[in-house]
Amino acid sequence: MRGIVFFYRCFPNTGFAEKIGIVAMIQESPHYSLAPVRANPVATMNSLQQRDLKTIWHPCSQMKDYEDFPPMEIVAAEGAYLHTADGVKIIDAISSWWCKSLGHAHPRIRTAVERQLDKFEHVIMANTCSEVLVELSERLANIAAPLDKVFYVDNGSTAVEVAMKMSLQYHAQTGATEKKRFAALENGYHGETALTLAAGDCGLYGAPFAELAPEIPNLKGVPYASSPEAPDWNKMPDESWDAIRQQLDALADTLAAVVFEPILQGAGGMKVYSPNLLRGLRKWADSNNVHLIADEIMTGFGRTGKTLACQHAEIVPDFACLSKGLTAGWGPMAVVLTSTKIYDAFYDDYLSGKAFMHSNTYCGNAIMAAASLEALKIYEDEGVFERVERDSANLRKRLAEIAADSNALRDIRGVGFAAAADIVNPNTGEPFPAERRTGFKFYRKAVELGALLRPLGDTIYFLPPLNTPDNVLDELAEIAATALRSVL
Ligand SMILES: Cc1ncc(COP(=O)(O)O)c(C=O)c1O
Repeated sequence: MRGIVFFYRCFPNTGFAEKIGIVAMIQESPHYSLAPVRANPVATMNSLQQRDLKTIWHPCSQMKDYEDFPPMEIVAAEGAYLHTADGVKIIDAISSWWCKSLGHAHPRIRTAVERQLDKFEHVIMANTCSEVLVELSERLANIAAPLDKVFYVDNGSTAVEVAMKMSLQYHAQTGATEKKRFAALENGYHGETALTLAAGDCGLYGAPFAELAPEIPNLKGVPYASSPEAPDWNKMPDESWDAIRQQLDALADTLAAVVFEPILQGAGGMKVYSPNLLRGLRKWADSNNVHLIADEIMTGFGRTGKTLACQHAEIVPDFACLSKGLTAGWGPMAVVLTSTKIYDAFYDDYLSGKAFMHSNTYCGNAIMAAASLEALKIYEDEGVFERVERDSANLRKRLAEIAADSNALRDIRGVGFAAAADIVNPNTGEPFPAERRTGFKFYRKAVELGALLRPLGDTIYFLPPLNTPDNVLDELAEIAATALRSVL
């Protein structure tokens, strides 16, 4: 009933105007004649969409926005494309929240999952073992050496929270009982649990719960850089490090760990920073009995062109948290990798009370393990990370061309297969007022034209599957350019 009301209310105004806009754009670019243009969403809101909106509360969404921008009905997904019920192909340009690193429906992963289904789908992980989990764990330990202990959970937020809990318990069990606090980087994001929100610096997500959360200071003065080609990539001015060191020194006595997304910060604005910060942190942490928790949930498995983003700085953290690309986006699984030294601090007689008593029902899920194991093999067999390293600059170049053409993008940045820029007013070079919702308008227009490019505020970014063919990236850039022009 609600959906029908919207149909009549919105269509005569917003809807018709949008349609005219699309016709004009088709004439501008040869690419759009290849794929059918998504019709006005309100005009075509079908009964499934209406039922969806009657019942489902969508994530990270203001539900009122769905009134005239209903959810796309997805009927299939293959490679870099989503297929909608109205016969349109949409490029999944943000890899479905950064996880579909090998695109959709990779046939080898499908076969591996089916093979596992023939054996068993899920069993309790405490006191059981299976070939698939052991082989996966051995491979992970190999990738993250010398981190050789693998703890399984079922999502990224929990992985970061587990690493934080492990760090606290480690210090308590090794005599450093005063080490009960954390620090994190400005503009960081680490998940949606209360503790990980506290470690993050994304006001919108954490603000409503701030009262409940422990105070976790954000280290200011991160040495942002535009890309690995930038002259300041491997340099960090002494004054920058001194400023961060002073903040750390003030916390040192009570600090258990520093939490960070290495090199590339996602939800905080797709920001890239110099690996030298990580080198500085590693040294400082070693001399102050402080752990480093590397949140590699987005960056891990090739997103930055290396297997782990910490490898840009040649450092090993005390905890590495991995998810998303682990299963290549086939489903929820995450791991915390740590060292034998940390593991040993928990190893004792049961009555010592030193065990790490964390569990999640679906940790070590066998289907996800099978998907992960196959994904790791594919990354290797298909040279996926090498391709990312090779083509990374071209992804940024596509954004730079849009910037040159529109004069409406600034601060083009990126590493690996992540490239971002901020929309600005081409006449002033300044950001548009937030209430104009330029990024959101861009998002809607890009969907109509065939690309899912959900922005972060007015920051637009490409974060496609790592094996997206060049011609699809070209098509994506054309769509982004046209969508941007139409919202200025
Ligand atoms: C860097 C980082 N940490 C943690 C998370 C949380 O992971 P999940 O959504 O699986 O809980 C995300 C998710 O986007 C992330 O990008």
